Amino acid sequence: MNAMKTRLLTLALLLAVPSALAHGTMVAFFGGQIAESGEYRAEFAVRDGSIRVWLRDHDDKPVKATGKATLLLGGQKLEADLTPKGDGLIASVPVKAKDKLTAVLGLNVDSKPVSLRFQQAEVVMPAVSGAAEAGRVAFEAVCATCHGSALRGTDGGPPLLHEFYALGSAHGDDVILAAMNEGAKSHMWKFGDMPKPQGLKDGQDKEVLAYIRAVQTANGLGGSPADAHSGHGHH
Ligand code: HEC
Repeated sequence: MNAMKTRLLTLALLLAVPSALAHGTMVAFFGGQIAESGEYRAEFAVRDGSIRVWLRDHDDKPVKATGKATLLLGGQKLEADLTPKGDGLIASVPVKAKDKLTAVLGLNVDSKPVSLRFQQAEVVMPAVSGAAEAGRVAFEAVCATCHGSALRGTDGGPPLLHEFYALGSAHGDDVILAAMNEGAKSHMWKFGDMPKPQGLKDGQDKEVLAYIRAVQTANGLGGSPADAHSGHGHH
């Protein structure tokens, strides 16, 4: 039932977007947000200490660009040059993946200006106890290097604070537990495979799952609206 709802919602979102998005995929390669500007599609992600931008065409081919980012965070305005890294661009800035911020990107592509804007909310970290607290400790030790302490992903792995992995999504509890016990073949993103995590003790998988669910719920993923705004975890 829940999965069905999610699917219907996804369909509704797809139907609501302009026809310019009809080509290629809408899926982010590196767990970021997607925005469109004319013939270009940009992916934007905030990491601890940097922002990442990937510019692509409508066939998802990388496009070379230079540019500047202006970030608004906590009443502060930061400006930084974007420099090439891999298929994309990076700017080192004193931000955290969990931060609330607005980014205005002024890119140059073949000396044409391309301007884009992104926004993200602050990650709510719920107060957890019991199994979920034990799971938090294990997550920090074993998973956070790739999935980030804010669960928003890093350059090594995708965000788990994502509708793909919410309760009622196609990636249910069984898939999350399987990832912890076996790793996962790359199939959603361009990060490559997830190796079998090292250092989880027997039974800790369920605790880590409880923690992931608590953070998702506190941030409005897969829980009831009341839970989403309370700032507290379940149980
Ligand atoms: C070395 C980096 C790394 C570590 C450590 C790691 N992961 Fe992952 N994880 C990845 C990557 C990369 C993917 C993306 C695979 C894909 O493309 O779908 C992933 C995917 C996942 C998925 C989705 C699996 C699927 O089948 O779609 C879950 C759930 C997950 N990780 C949870 C965890 C948890 C929980 C931990 C800690 C116990 C952890 N990961 C540790 C890199 C990592």
